Amino acid sequence: MHKITVRAGSNIAFIKYWGVADPAINLPLTSSVSMTLQEAHTTTTVAWQPASDLPADAVTVDGAPLTGDALARIERHLDRIRSLAGVSHRAQVTSRNNFPMASGIASSASGFAALTVAACRALELDLDATRLSALARLGSGSASRSLFGGFVLWERGVDDATSVARPLFPPDHWDLVDIVAVVSSAPKHVSSEGGHRLAASSPLNDARIAHAGKLLPDVIAAIRNRSLPELGPLIEMDALAMHAVMMTSTPNLIYWQPGTLEVIHAVQRWRKDDGLAAYFTIDAGPNVHVLCDGRDAGTVRHSLEALPGVSRTIASGPGPAPFELTDHLF
Ligand code: DP6
Repeated sequence: MHKITVRAGSNIAFIKYWGVADPAINLPLTSSVSMTLQEAHTTTTVAWQPASDLPADAVTVDGAPLTGDALARIERHLDRIRSLAGVSHRAQVTSRNNFPMASGIASSASGFAALTVAACRALELDLDATRLSALARLGSGSASRSLFGGFVLWERGVDDATSVARPLFPPDHWDLVDIVAVVSSAPKHVSSEGGHRLAASSPLNDARIAHAGKLLPDVIAAIRNRSLPELGPLIEMDALAMHAVMMTSTPNLIYWQPGTLEVIHAVQRWRKDDGLAAYFTIDAGPNVHVLCDGRDAGTVRHSLEALPGVSRTIASGPGPAPFELTDHLF
């Protein structure tokens, strides 16, 4: 059995995936739009072996063997791939992120994208990118978008075959930069997996879903026009709407820390006082992603790092679709 190594970028959503219509297949409540990240990626090597040689899947992430729930989630994904290929082989998987786990960058998106592509190729399963996107979605919803480079739309769809991502614009379409302001490295208390199931308990959820559907064409048009003054207010609106849903779920999810508000207010101040085109979005955690044009990235990064609540920043432009590497991790 040959070894395959694949690198996939994480992604940052401009219209968020939050809430599932069918948790069994991560069928989302809304379509979402994201940018695949160049500088934040997962590299994964997979080799399959007969169960007689390798009795159980063995998975190592960032140097530590996975156990418990984290391992079980990967095993369930490997089961899907085994059943597609009609084999009972076990997988040896080694994975490495080039960004810290608690950075506010989704390791599940890049992780499940890289795992899906590497595990399928190592079994010589010939699936196109759309099928791979659907398969990656079963592991982690946002991973469906990391199957493509540049700017990506995940269509909500109605079932497993139709809930897939597709590319909107290639990575070189727009020199847009995502700068993550890390305000806390503490592990989050509620995973996104658990949070998606809570969305429907918020009285604001239906309104946010309806509004996200209205924002979507404008978000795509703003990306087409490479216009941050058009895109920025829309992404801030949806990020705040998603956090309003989180904060009003039962039980409530309050991911923000004092540093989160410090960054939000600073970004608004720089826009107003200095005319700096920078806009924020926030995922299921306290760290703030600040979007700006490439020409402003140095200034924004420097200003973020000067805030007392920001411990570090990680900057990334648009990145490619998953690709194979010839250097393996084992
Ligand atoms: C807030 O894709 O991490 O980042 O499907 O349970 O793995 P699972 O959830 P996940 O959720 C991402 C939520 C988000 C918004 C987004 O990326 O669209």
